[in-house]
Amino acid sequence: MAENRISLADQVAIVTGAGAGLGRGIAEAYGSLGASVVVVERDPERAENAAAWFEAQRFPHLICRVDVEDGDQVRRMVGEVDERFGRIDILVNNVGDFCGQTKPFARTDEDDWQILYEANFRHVLRVTHAALPLMQAGKRGGSIINISTIEAHRGIPNGAVYSAFNAAIGGFTRSLALELGRDGIRVNEIAPETSDTEQVQPRNWVAPEYQGHTKDWIPLGRFGTPRDAAGCAVFLASDLSSWVTGTTLHLDGGAQAAGGWYRVHETGRWTNMPVVSDAGIKM
Ligand SMILES: NC(=O)c1ccc[n+]([C@@H]2O[C@H](COP(=O)([O-])OP(=O)(O)OC[C@H]3O[C@@H](n4cnc5c(N)ncnc54)[C@H](O)[C@@H]3O)[C@@H](O)[C@H]2O)c1
Repeated sequence: MAENRISLADQVAIVTGAGAGLGRGIAEAYGSLGASVVVVERDPERAENAAAWFEAQRFPHLICRVDVEDGDQVRRMVGEVDERFGRIDILVNNVGDFCGQTKPFARTDEDDWQILYEANFRHVLRVTHAALPLMQAGKRGGSIINISTIEAHRGIPNGAVYSAFNAAIGGFTRSLALELGRDGIRVNEIAPETSDTEQVQPRNWVAPEYQGHTKDWIPLGRFGTPRDAAGCAVFLASDLSSWVTGTTLHLDGGAQAAGGWYRVHETGRWTNMPVVSDAGIKM
């Protein structure tokens, strides 16, 4: 029975950027399903807030105030996990940020590229590289889940470098899945569309008079939530996906399938012409 297989009891899960947003949703879901959760978070207040939540629930956890852009801190974090739990079964590389950069590629410079590289891709390599020996030593298989973005799979104006580093996550995911298949370690990607988090607050970029229009451009009618991300991340961490590796879960309410198609708000009919001006993220 599928429901009997949704348990993460005896599993140790690292979630990066777990103090807020999608990572927090994922960490809470893993804790609720019995995993020991390692919350990796660089923001002290968010780390404390997560600690309070896990303590209140009495779920086993370890809070690591770590910046995944710092190699020494990441290696120390893995050492701490080893000491406390002796293994890693699940790794969610969730940290990622567009770093407020929305400008034409021609106006970017090498410093901009470096900032986006560090925030979106280099830490995925670093944390995975640091965690892998312990995952492999456990000889129990495992699951690595890399969070990218829908913008890795479609173009985004004035976000070419952000898009490129997130697309790199897909290449890394597929290739690593091949290398780790014989260890029983599965590697998959989740690519979310706009979701309501601390970083991206879609409710604030849609004017009140357009709030009802979300359903016109996202087929499932709303923005994503941390709970939606948690659902995908639970599936990919659990036995339910035991024959799934090297692939991407598109967590997007159907947005990518819709491509440039929208519904006309007043009639509900489909169009490929923009129907709402001056709403949404300003690029
Ligand atoms: N929210 C969206 O609409 C959306 C859309 C597409 C993709 N994503 C991706 O989903 C992931 C999560 O996004 P979110 O919106 O939940 O972000 P968020 O900023 O709301 O939360 C991320 C958390 O990670 C922490 N963090 C950031 N950098 C860190 C670092 N170097 N070391 C440790 N912790 C760090 C932050 O303090 C924060 O608590 C990211 O990879 C993002 O690119 C989000």
